[in-house]
Amino acid sequence: MHRREFTKMMGLLALPWPGAALAEAGDDWSAQFARNLEEHPWLAAWGNIERDHYQSEAEVSGNWPEALRGVLYRTGPAQHEAHGWRNRHWFDGDGMMHAWRIGADGVRHEARLVETAKLRAEREAGRALYPGLAGSPPDPAGLSGPDDLNLANTSVLHHHGRLLALWEAGSPYEIDPETLATKGPYRFPEADGGSSMRGVPFSAHPRMDVDGSVWNFGYASSAGLLVFWHIGADGVLLRAGRIAVEPMTMPHDFVVTERHLLLLLPPFHYRPRANATGFLNMHEWRPEDPCRVLVVDKNDLASHYFLELPAQWVFHFGNAWEDSAGIIRFDAARAPDPGIMTDAFSAIMRGEAIASRPASHYAYRIDTRARTVSEEPLVGSDVQTEFPCVDPGVGCRRYRKLVMLSRSGEQPLGHGALNEVSMLDVESGRRDFFRYPDSQIPEEHLYVPRPGSEPESRGWILGTAHDWRRGRQMLNLFHADSVAEGPIAAAELPYAMPLGLHGKFVAA
Ligand SMILES: [Fe+2]
Repeated sequence: MHRREFTKMMGLLALPWPGAALAEAGDDWSAQFARNLEEHPWLAAWGNIERDHYQSEAEVSGNWPEALRGVLYRTGPAQHEAHGWRNRHWFDGDGMMHAWRIGADGVRHEARLVETAKLRAEREAGRALYPGLAGSPPDPAGLSGPDDLNLANTSVLHHHGRLLALWEAGSPYEIDPETLATKGPYRFPEADGGSSMRGVPFSAHPRMDVDGSVWNFGYASSAGLLVFWHIGADGVLLRAGRIAVEPMTMPHDFVVTERHLLLLLPPFHYRPRANATGFLNMHEWRPEDPCRVLVVDKNDLASHYFLELPAQWVFHFGNAWEDSAGIIRFDAARAPDPGIMTDAFSAIMRGEAIASRPASHYAYRIDTRARTVSEEPLVGSDVQTEFPCVDPGVGCRRYRKLVMLSRSGEQPLGHGALNEVSMLDVESGRRDFFRYPDSQIPEEHLYVPRPGSEPESRGWILGTAHDWRRGRQMLNLFHADSVAEGPIAAAELPYAMPLGLHGKFVAA
């Protein structure tokens, strides 16, 4: 694509979001949350941070392997209340970057609030200024573009020595990997020295290809465009592309195979309107419409086609691969509708746990020659799943082992969040899992390869958990091949943190 065309696209992206959000009268959400927290102390997982910076040695137990050295970087919504305003959605919290440093002398944790332009503007103004996914503070400020709302609170990319905090719909934020200080919005260098992609959305789930290059997409709702990024292993933008999508939706993740990029586009249609309070209200769920499957040719980012599945909602995919006959296989945590995002993750900010239809894990198959797509469950319908991931060594290629959070079978009354870490063999269907005690709510768990071992062999599972009963944050390590036996090592902090979202392990 010529630079001039991208500059034109940038013009489209720079338009303010249509439909100025209406202010909501009164704010009793903080009081409602505080009242419900007294009755349900597990709600502390959606509580507020107490300061901008945390730092502590962890109390370690068990056997931390000598071969496991590195840093687990994680981000997530953390500042849920500021200037007397409590956010109306879990994902609207200002992002905090965490580093769990695993070394010969133990485990050390540090966390720092990301100093986004939004955070700085609101601190200077002394009040909440901007609408979020749900809700808007009184007298909201005007918007010059999506980066005014950038929270850097969703995921992490560590590439070519750079640490980036990612959001769904804006620029990456560069973070100093040693101090966690915010360097500012990051722009990938372009081969011609230009800056045509400045401000173009870079979503939260880039995928690393086998050659060390990175693929990603972004979406610009008001422009009706999906954007594609391909960044070389040297960190320089190789190529970009764009595809018009009508109606636009809210794609959160995608997958990459040897030859294709794949997105599911749920029928959660972008329908801007003047009286919308927050971005979610600019969308309409239409279950009678199909979930579009967008198949894009990696070698020609304009070449694409659409297939159709029944209406469904997907946040996350585990992985994808493609065989020599052009058959693509991938997996996803599939929910019947977006209710968990539109309703449950908003109600939780008032301290109300409301039921939504959960996601369960599915396998998908695309025949790229016949241009057909099919889906089938990978686990029983009584197994809820989310946060799927694989060994990074098999990313975009054939895989067998899938790590994810889950919840299954009969459960005692409790917090209701996912409470297991599972290892699923996608070929045999066998699932091993460890169930956390009710006093702990696990966050994303990652597959960490053992240095020098074959992919999917002798690795570990590393993940954090919020202990609401004791007010502590945990880091737990499992043998990937015997997760049911429970953690082989743990590290515990003297404080707990609000639940975060995604991270990456960076080996030393
Ligand atoms: Fe995500």
